[in-house]
Amino acid sequence: MNYRHAFHAGNFADVFKHVALLGLLDALRAKPAPFCYVDTHAGRGIYDLRGDSAQRTGEFRDGVARVLQAGDLPPTLADYAQRIRAFGADADGDLMRYPGSPLLARDLLRADDRAILCELQDEEAAALRAALHGDARCAVHERDGYAALKALLPPAQKRGLVLIDPPFEAQGAEFEAIAQALTPALARWPNAIYAIWYPIKLRETITPFHRWLGSEVGKADVLVTELLHPGNTPLRLNGCGLAILNPPWQFDTWLATWLPNLARLLAAGSDPTTRIEWVRR
Ligand SMILES: C[S@@+](CC[C@H](N)C(=O)[O-])C[C@H]1O[C@@H](n2cnc3c(N)ncnc32)[C@H](O)[C@@H]1O
Repeated sequence: MNYRHAFHAGNFADVFKHVALLGLLDALRAKPAPFCYVDTHAGRGIYDLRGDSAQRTGEFRDGVARVLQAGDLPPTLADYAQRIRAFGADADGDLMRYPGSPLLARDLLRADDRAILCELQDEEAAALRAALHGDARCAVHERDGYAALKALLPPAQKRGLVLIDPPFEAQGAEFEAIAQALTPALARWPNAIYAIWYPIKLRETITPFHRWLGSEVGKADVLVTELLHPGNTPLRLNGCGLAILNPPWQFDTWLATWLPNLARLLAAGSDPTTRIEWVRR
């Protein structure tokens, strides 16, 4: 595997995914019963934005940096910006580090909540363990996240969230791997929220996955949200999406309170569009 998230940490796709992730976790925290957060592709937890990888692509400058530089943010984006600053800004407010999904989620765990974090690459898994400083609520599994869904679900906590955030090196074949893992996962833990991130290059590669979500995944409601840049070429990332199974109540309404605003901030002179749509309800 060649993928290293350090090249992409804090880019527009991370911002979109992480703001939505915080909202999903907030919704779980609205009830007192403990929940379990499962991250199938966890990454290393924290990324050095001053390091070679992040500096070489500079992707974070068109992502998180734009949000942090913006003046008037809606409350959801202001909360995200505050969390990011707390993780990685120096005394002058310059961003040095960017947190990945496991560390953002850990901040929202209560005493009885738990996290299961899977990461296949040994270096990334070791870095994640170090970043968690022995937090007993979080278990790092150095293993295939798809296989872990079969082996580790359902957790003892009856409620929870599964984030599936693969590198998509396999492109269209990744959707097949997701579908193969989701089917048994839903059978074992049908009431969990599942959030699946996907890149948008060619729309044609996404459509069959949406069709499958609409017809094949049991009784789950499926909400799709996307952040799109104009263009339809396989050569670059034209946008990204999240398919959310069993979304929290009124999650579509909540998304609409900040997503168009984020799209304008990240637009970089182009004309981005957003999508919030039920694939199945
Ligand atoms: C997109 S990154 C994850 C980013 C992270 N979820 C976040 O939001 O900060 C994908 C990660 O999955 C890891 N990975 C790739 N294939 C995997 C697999 N089959 N199981 C678990 N981890 C995998 C990669 O090493 C990489 O760190």
